[in-house]
Amino acid sequence: MLHKLKYLTAFLVIVIAACQNTAQLPSANEPVLFAEHIAPIIYENCSKCHNQDGAAPFSLISYDDIASKAKLIAYVTANRLMPPWPADPTYTHFANETYLTDEQIQLIKRWAEEGSLPGDTAALVQPEILEKKWSNGAPDLIVRMPKPIKVPGNNTDLFMVLKIPFELPQDTIIRAIEFVPGNKRLVHHVNTHIIQFNASKKKNLQAGKFMVNQDQTKSTSIHKELGLLNDDGTYAPMTPSVSNYLPGAQFSFYPDEIGGFRVGKKNAFYLNDMHFGPSPVDEIDSSYYKIYYGVKEPKRPVAEFQIGTLGLAPVEPTLVVPANEMKTFHIKFTVPNDISIVNLVPHMHLIGKRFWAYAIKPSGDTIRLIRINNWDFRWQYFYMPKKMLKIPRGSTIFVEGDFDNRASNPNNPFNPPKLIAEREGSMKTTDEMFQLIITYVPYQKGDELIVLE
Ligand code: HEC
Repeated sequence: MLHKLKYLTAFLVIVIAACQNTAQLPSANEPVLFAEHIAPIIYENCSKCHNQDGAAPFSLISYDDIASKAKLIAYVTANRLMPPWPADPTYTHFANETYLTDEQIQLIKRWAEEGSLPGDTAALVQPEILEKKWSNGAPDLIVRMPKPIKVPGNNTDLFMVLKIPFELPQDTIIRAIEFVPGNKRLVHHVNTHIIQFNASKKKNLQAGKFMVNQDQTKSTSIHKELGLLNDDGTYAPMTPSVSNYLPGAQFSFYPDEIGGFRVGKKNAFYLNDMHFGPSPVDEIDSSYYKIYYGVKEPKRPVAEFQIGTLGLAPVEPTLVVPANEMKTFHIKFTVPNDISIVNLVPHMHLIGKRFWAYAIKPSGDTIRLIRINNWDFRWQYFYMPKKMLKIPRGSTIFVEGDFDNRASNPNNPFNPPKLIAEREGSMKTTDEMFQLIITYVPYQKGDELIVLE
């Protein structure tokens, strides 16, 4: 009986799912319409990047935006260039995953071929309202750079360390900080920390330089030059990694009780560091931050660690890839405490080819983390599990990565190929890195049930 019931429910679920699908799809002799069929797909899968503040260079929101690019959209979706989603969805799913089904791709193709008909566009939500939705609502505060950054057109990577001071009228709870890239083509990554000054120990928040070139100076003197120290030369408290950015990465909020922290009146963003990719012509960047305040007292601040390059466990063997070779490397790390993962960030550079991470529990069971079969340097995400992911103490995280330094690799920065290696502290895109960065909170009972979507 129970068996039959299960069978019946499964059957019903399939029927309902099938009905829902056909309800959205026009039949073969009905026209495909923008408002009815295409807009929902684009809003769900594209507009979160293709909006005025997003990572993409143009908006895909209004009918005109989208219809004018219909052919190109059909092409990039059919070839799965867009939406970019490097993680293998047959291995693990994530809260922020974005990929199209074959039916959706077909529908877009038909729409473009049939002349991109509008349908009932009057029934759609106004583009201005959508634009607001995609830009995560109005922030409570916007913090801009004191002046734009000049990126010289000399075809070399530029690494800057910056200080951006900001003052608040009172002690404030910060829920989240979003970095908005100015020059979207050039800004490669940013790691941002907040220094919280005690007003009595820091007279002039603006004292010191706004930015220094990372390559030129040592860290202790950088701190002095930027005026990051208290007036008496001591260090003020710092909250690390309050906002990080990588190519294609999107910002998202954690559930209420996760993350967040309190700051006083005098603060400074400490960007260690900000990396611009090489440019053949002089360019300008005016990136900025959006700050969202919180109401609830932050209970569970997030922390992060990284394994691999510059991390808690080394890359084995040493990350050296001779010219014309394809090599596999490993990272192995045993987790000392119960943790709940809220974000996974795989990181490699240009000749990275494949990235695979999983954990083995002390019981011998496997916890799948992430698999990327075709690494693409341009799309580096913060992968957020659908629910908080518990890794019990004593589990070992294994990471395996392939690096392809052959001429047949179109992403090889050198032609002919030459030896590429991890160089101590170098983040240059033409050197290599192999890292897994994990953002987590110490595990609490029930975390497995907390939904991150
Ligand atoms: C994660 C962010 C993101 C998502 C999601 C995304 N895009 Fe993009 N898209 C970009 C960026 C960034 C570019 C700039 C070009 C590049 O770097 O490849 C781009 C470029 C494009 C281009 C121009 C390609 C060219 O060759 O000029 C098209 C067309 C496009 N996207 C369509 C889409 C469509 C359609 C979707 C949804 C089905 C989508 N994108 C989803 C970030 C995104």
